[in-house]
Amino acid sequence: MGDTKRDLGRRILVLNGPNLNLLGRREPDQYGHSTLKEIEDDLRAYAASRSAEIRFVQSNHEGELIDVIHKAIGWADAIIVNAAGLTHSSVGLRDAIIAAAIPTVEVHLSNIYRREEFRHRSLIADVVIGQIAGFGAFSYLLGLEAALHLLDKKGS
Ligand code: DQA
Repeated sequence: MGDTKRDLGRRILVLNGPNLNLLGRREPDQYGHSTLKEIEDDLRAYAASRSAEIRFVQSNHEGELIDVIHKAIGWADAIIVNAAGLTHSSVGLRDAIIAAAIPTVEVHLSNIYRREEFRHRSLIADVVIGQIAGFGAFSYLLGLEAALHLLDKKGS
């Protein structure tokens, strides 16, 4: 039986943007060989071991990602987001993160600052709590650890 006090306030939305459904076969030199399903399974197992619950969503559509953020209001205590290409272009996603006012951790598989210049600018970087980039699939686990740390701090 879980410690109900700790179980409270540990719901995390993990949001994935365009083309991440192709992980595993998509530019493996850049993004590694793990599939999104493998990343999801690892996150679920780790979250369960830390008494947290995750909802894992991927969409190739900006509006759908924004809808999912809106629906997370009242459910999610934290968000982990890999906005993929939309990181560099989406004012709508940025505004949704601000509007939801749910503590958010930005993650990227690749180190966006070592890549093309247009990837150096994240439109969400200054509205999230922090960013993790460059550790491949492990960036997600680090993001989850960061989110749990935030929630532990809040709950204590
Ligand atoms: C990415 C980096 C983005 O620049 C790119 O468009 C992606 C993936 C990453 O996880 O490294 O699709 O967010």
